[in-house]
Amino acid sequence: MKKIIIEGNHLLHGKIRISGAKNSAVALVPASLLCDEEVIIDSIPNISDIDALEEMLEYLNADVKRDKTTIKINSRNINNLEIPEKISKKLRASYYFMGALLGRYKEVTMFFPGGCPIGARPIDLHLKGFEALGAKVYEEGNKYTLIAEDLKGSNIYLDFPSVGATINIMLAAVKAKGFTTIENAACEPEIVNVATFLNNMGAKITGAGTTTIIVEGVDYLHKAYTEVIPDRIEAGTYIIAGALLGDNLVIENIIPEHIMSLLQKLKSMGVKMKLENGSIIVNKSRNLKPINIQTRVYPGFPTDLQQPITTLLNYCNGVSTILETIYENRFCNVEYLNKMGTNIKIEGRKISIDGPNELTGKQVVATDLRAGACLILAGLVAEGITEISDVEHVLRGYENIIEKLTNVGAKIRLEEIK
Ligand code: EPZ
Repeated sequence: MKKIIIEGNHLLHGKIRISGAKNSAVALVPASLLCDEEVIIDSIPNISDIDALEEMLEYLNADVKRDKTTIKINSRNINNLEIPEKISKKLRASYYFMGALLGRYKEVTMFFPGGCPIGARPIDLHLKGFEALGAKVYEEGNKYTLIAEDLKGSNIYLDFPSVGATINIMLAAVKAKGFTTIENAACEPEIVNVATFLNNMGAKITGAGTTTIIVEGVDYLHKAYTEVIPDRIEAGTYIIAGALLGDNLVIENIIPEHIMSLLQKLKSMGVKMKLENGSIIVNKSRNLKPINIQTRVYPGFPTDLQQPITTLLNYCNGVSTILETIYENRFCNVEYLNKMGTNIKIEGRKISIDGPNELTGKQVVATDLRAGACLILAGLVAEGITEISDVEHVLRGYENIIEKLTNVGAKIRLEEIK
């Protein structure tokens, strides 16, 4: 087990470079299995989720070469094996192997994916999409076997614009016969990243990034190259760190359009920041105006940033609120923030944050990835020492977070708990 120790209240000065997006990379790697030749994916983040996916690829006998930021994958000799649960439960995104292996072999056996305990997180929309394409789904506890005589294009309407279901159905449809339409599709930038990659291989996908995606099945996918887009959630997390403690903190390699909803909210709070060709310069801001946030699908305010921004809302003069509309249990950070000195009340899917309050370093627990990020931000700004345990969650999703923060003046270190 690992824990993070932070000595708080040190200004952050210098540059933080944003890495490739975790939620793109974890879909791009499984998508490679559909290709009949070698693929190259650049700007891959060096996080444990990618390690887990690499392990799954190697288990299937794919040829994988990975260096610092690039991964080369050749799936010509893979075997369509049942991936053991001990590997697939390491991350939720293992479910993309369902869509990829079904799309390639018309058969796959997988265990229900892992992931953060932020809600039930069913995969019914994924399975409904696969069935619409002609697959039969057999469930045995948390083991799913999908078998299709043939995969035929179909019209699929998603009851909820699920990111995972949208991508997974795309993966299963690229080699199906005929046309597939995905209505009420999710529009997140990560979906465009995956569709572009598949089209680089010769797939025929139009409409990615809109609510209607059309896939025309093809027989063969040739070698291709793609680059992972910058991680908009990592970017948002460090911009919030800058609003807490920035001394001209520069966050570089961002795509502002991908975080417009966050930037609007920060602006309305009165955060001091400015955009400068692909970078943001942000400064410590206090006397902030309270705001109300509702998490929404893209381009609305991202649910993955509601826990990180909660730390900043503690510095608003008055009561701010957050309504979490995507997940049913994404406030596990609140008890630990209150232990450090915030005044937050939970009412169902809504929290109210009454500020401002000084925060004091305490021993806290990272219950999930973005709760961990929230507590790191709180530790950075609190007086004294904060110890965060169970930080494996955080290391899954933020590449070199200790190094990136240390390089800009934070007093933060990682320790093994014996
Ligand atoms: C992706 O999860 C991200 N994970 C999540 O990021 C992110 O919070 C989420 O999209 C929403 O933006 C990855 O990309 C690996 P959904 P995903 O399907 O695909 C319900 C992080 O912190 N739902 O859009 O699982 C589901 O329960 C992680 O980086 C169904 O009911 O999200 C949830 O309430 C956390 N049935 C809502 O939809 C389904 O079949 C959103 O889920 C699928 C989803």
